[in-house]
Amino acid sequence: MKTYEDLEGDGGSNIVGQVVQLGEKLRSRLDKIKYKVALMSGKGGVGKSSITANIASCLADRGNKVGILDADLNGPSIGHLLGVGNDVQLDMKDDGLEPGIGYQGIRIMSMDMLLKSADTPVMWTDADDATASWVSIMESTATRELMADTNWGELDYLLIDMPPGSDRIDNIRSLIPELAGVVEITIPSPLSQHIVTKSITKNNMMGVPIIGLIENMATYVCPHCDKEGKLFEGEDVHKLTERKEIPYIGKIPFDTRVSQTSQSGSLFYSTFRDSVTGKAIAEAVDNIQNFITK
Ligand SMILES: Nc1ncnc2c1ncn2[C@@H]1O[C@H](COP(=O)(O)OP(=O)(O)OP(=O)(O)O)[C@@H](O)[C@H]1O
Ligand SMILES: [Mg+2]
Repeated sequence: MKTYEDLEGDGGSNIVGQVVQLGEKLRSRLDKIKYKVALMSGKGGVGKSSITANIASCLADRGNKVGILDADLNGPSIGHLLGVGNDVQLDMKDDGLEPGIGYQGIRIMSMDMLLKSADTPVMWTDADDATASWVSIMESTATRELMADTNWGELDYLLIDMPPGSDRIDNIRSLIPELAGVVEITIPSPLSQHIVTKSITKNNMMGVPIIGLIENMATYVCPHCDKEGKLFEGEDVHKLTERKEIPYIGKIPFDTRVSQTSQSGSLFYSTFRDSVTGKAIAEAVDNIQNFITK
């Protein structure tokens, strides 16, 4: 395999031209999108993708044109949550790849849509000796391409469903410098609060605006009587938001229907908008919209 040291000039690849072209394409896509918001946590499994999907549902319900970029390349779940499997026929037009259209007309692009079957994992390389930094470069490039090659069209909101890890914001921030902000998500457990705090610190260090923190699975809601109880023991999440001086923007209960609805051809919010959990999602969306438009 050739390395950069072996190349004379750009090796005939016109690499500078290619980078400029990709940059221009990305810029013209971004210019048509009013607000770009990343949803993250640092911690895995706290409900980032489920909340992203339901916030998108609520925004679409309010008449907004919404798209979701699934930035979780190794564990993509947005297609699954919005009813777009990898059997979708991807349509490549002159202007780029047409996004998948999920429930409520939400436009999505996810690595999952590019894989052969639902069971296929993402493989970055066949090489046994691939280094972590090489894989990480390929991941950043893939995210850039998913963003730039997708014909998002005019959007009010592009939500970015982030993978776990507080370092992933670097790449998104460099792709989208005008990010309206990030929404942090935690569950009340001490471990999750510990990890999300690192993500908040990282964003503060980078000057990324933090819209606020959503507490997911804050309580348990009985689907029969709508009564709430505590699910996790842990310090009050409000104390964390006070300490880090960020807004507490949502308290979303654990509700079994959140995972059930993703199997049933709709999004939780659009079916249960009047439930306790539906109203909690709407309140979080009010806070996000107020932050962005103020
Ligand atoms: N409020 C909720 N009530 C009930 N179940 C929930 C809730 N939020 C998330 N879940 C469930 O928790 C599990 C993890 O959620 P999800 O995949 O959205 O988390 P994630 O943070 O995106 O995970 P990952 O870090 O792997 O990307 C899913 O099975 C989802 O259905
Ligand atoms: Mg996820």
